[in-house]
Amino acid sequence: MKKNLLITTYGCQMNVYDSQRMSDILKPLGYQATTDPADADMVILNTCHIREKATEKVFSELGRLRAHKNKRAKNGKDTIIAVAGCVAQAEGAEITRRAKYVDMVFGPQTYHELPQMIAELTRSRDTTDGPGRGILNVEFPSEEKFDFLPEVTAPNGPSAFLTIQEGCDKFCHFCCVPYTRGAEYSRSSKSIIEEALKLVDLGAKDITLLGQNVNAYHGKNLTETGEMGLGQLMYELSKINGLERIRYTTSHPRDVDEELIQAHTIEKVMPFLHLPVQSGSDKILKAMNRKHTAQWYLEIIDRLKAVRPGMAFSSDFIVGYPGENRKDFEDTLSLVNAVKYALCYSFTYSKRPGTPAATADFQISEEEKVERLAILQDLLYKQQTEFNESKIGTIQPVLFERLGRKEGQIIGKTPHVQSVHVTGNPRLIGQIIDVDIKGATQNSLNGTINII
Ligand code: SAH
Ligand code: SF4
Ligand code: F3S
Repeated sequence: MKKNLLITTYGCQMNVYDSQRMSDILKPLGYQATTDPADADMVILNTCHIREKATEKVFSELGRLRAHKNKRAKNGKDTIIAVAGCVAQAEGAEITRRAKYVDMVFGPQTYHELPQMIAELTRSRDTTDGPGRGILNVEFPSEEKFDFLPEVTAPNGPSAFLTIQEGCDKFCHFCCVPYTRGAEYSRSSKSIIEEALKLVDLGAKDITLLGQNVNAYHGKNLTETGEMGLGQLMYELSKINGLERIRYTTSHPRDVDEELIQAHTIEKVMPFLHLPVQSGSDKILKAMNRKHTAQWYLEIIDRLKAVRPGMAFSSDFIVGYPGENRKDFEDTLSLVNAVKYALCYSFTYSKRPGTPAATADFQISEEEKVERLAILQDLLYKQQTEFNESKIGTIQPVLFERLGRKEGQIIGKTPHVQSVHVTGNPRLIGQIIDVDIKGATQNSLNGTINII
């Protein structure tokens, strides 16, 4: 029987990938995608725990879903409400306690067990709503979910994500990820290459390799007798015909080795890297347990620029970390001025329960945090605009991905992940076409193409 499935995804690209895989798993059970919660037989919230605001969103969304569930129940229809992802992992018991109408709570490492969980739920149907019906599955199982996932099935479009590594052993003092995703684990290179071939078969030209610390990757080599690092893996992937662009995210500066730097000489590896630094102050980097200095970071940037012409960078920043004074904050501004970023994500520090920074001394007031963030973002947005403007008058190879909002417009990406808007034929979607860049704003480029 056909059933409707709605998955709402919050957080990082790894959650986007996981949502895709959950729909792959549920497809053989008859579930097809819908966008309307009133229509959905099953709703999965794939959640993010990284900052307080992200977690709050889940509870407000759950309130809305409860109303849908009640309304559908009046019409004799059952609705399964599931909470997946990092909030499920971190606050599973709290969710089942606070929201009894939630049927299933499962973490990022157990979603391959979805068919069994649904079967269990169906068996307990006659106990109706309420306690007893809720399934809580937040183990870190010893088996690897990747060994149980079906082949990718969805046409991902020209740009696709591929998770190659999961978990984190770094334990930065502000971060919840080691607790929500578990220990570092790398998939075997063979299974990654098989998945990449399948994605290319389904139309992917640009693949982003994903991991919380993707450059800590050390999976089994092709003969499964030894290990392979990320640099070597990208070299193997670059041999795939039809795969044009390779990216990876997110990297930790500590795990950038010479092999990875040299991998940037491979043409298919894009000249763009997201390399989060968080702060430019050595004192704060130490307090954060980042295990490197600002100088170490700047040297990596220089080494990458030296091997790859046109190399550009993006980063994440946290302002108002406990103990950050004006001088520390100014060190961050200096680092930003030294690197000149193409793109950045910046946040005020948010206390995460159970992490060391949450109970550290010298917490910064919200007011001060917000003020520092505004100053930093002013500088970052200026750099982003300058980077985009530097492309005016150049020709950029653009991979077209989708239709634009305006009539006749199509949208694609440059090697530096800049969005490009042009007037063009929709049949160009999925192709890499040279675009004459004519204009730039903070967030996008526009230009013209000579092909109709
Ligand atoms: N593994 C990546 C980051 C993953 S989390 C790395 O090591 O850089 C994504 C980003 O969220 C982080 O880079 C950080 O800037 C931000 N972040 C994580 N915890 C945070 C917190 N408690 N408060 C504010 N921002 C946070
Ligand atoms: Fe979080 Fe640090 Fe691990 Fe990144 S490296 S996921 S910031 S603990
Ligand atoms: Fe959020 Fe979990 Fe990703 S906390 S950022 S969804 S790893």
